[in-house]
Amino acid sequence: MIIIKRFLCILIVTMTGLNAYAQHSASELHIYHGNIRDLESLQRGASYFMNMCAGCHDLQYMRYSQMADAIGIEEYHLGSLMPPGSSMLNPMSNSMEDVDAARWFGVAPPDLSLVSRSLGNDYLYSFLTGFYADSNRPNGANNHYLENTSMPNVLWQYYEDGSEGPSIEVVATDLVNFLDIVGEPIQVYRQDLGVKVIGFLLLFLFIAYALKKEIWREVK
Ligand code: HEC
Repeated sequence: MIIIKRFLCILIVTMTGLNAYAQHSASELHIYHGNIRDLESLQRGASYFMNMCAGCHDLQYMRYSQMADAIGIEEYHLGSLMPPGSSMLNPMSNSMEDVDAARWFGVAPPDLSLVSRSLGNDYLYSFLTGFYADSNRPNGANNHYLENTSMPNVLWQYYEDGSEGPSIEVVATDLVNFLDIVGEPIQVYRQDLGVKVIGFLLLFLFIAYALKKEIWREVK
């Protein structure tokens, strides 16, 4: 009985999760090709984030010092990535108050610490590259992936063809890369450890097999 109950609970939780996901992916997603081991991309992503997103969005589960670690820079190089007056040990939550934000935008900008895990990198990439001009919206922009979003297209300058600097695809990739590492800062370590553990198990399999052969040799 307990097992059935547990199964039902898991099913319900999974289905609500899928439902939340479905609401967010009305159109087909673009596939994001990023690499969390590319430290330069992570550093660019952090810098874009601090300059263009941090005014509205928090990363409340990340401290500046942890971010330095995750993107491969020394803490004393954090300077330009930290708002004046904040300490390295502060959580990255300097954005506006939710109440004010909700009044200005209708919706408070969500915390983005875990957004790569909840919405997925392909969705984030699609969302960031999916803005289009729409004069019916108060801020002049709409999004293919979040209809009538209240987020302005803060990346507009990268959308313009022929503009100097990187294209929107490159900027979005760096940003998603950064949000991915923020969502799980130890993932590179975890993956590396996984390879070592499997390597060890394979080696151990070989030793165990050789030992078994040796022990049973005389019995046969
Ligand atoms: C001017 C304030 C503002 C800035 C700057 C801003 N956002 Fe947003 N953002 C919002 C608001 C408001 C929402 C909620 C949108 C909604 O639900 O319609 C949002 C939502 C989001 C979402 C969630 C989308 C979803 O489908 O739920 C993501 C991801 C996001 N922003 C990423 C970013 C990134 C990355 C940047 C920097 C390039 C950025 N935002 C800059 C206001 C902002």
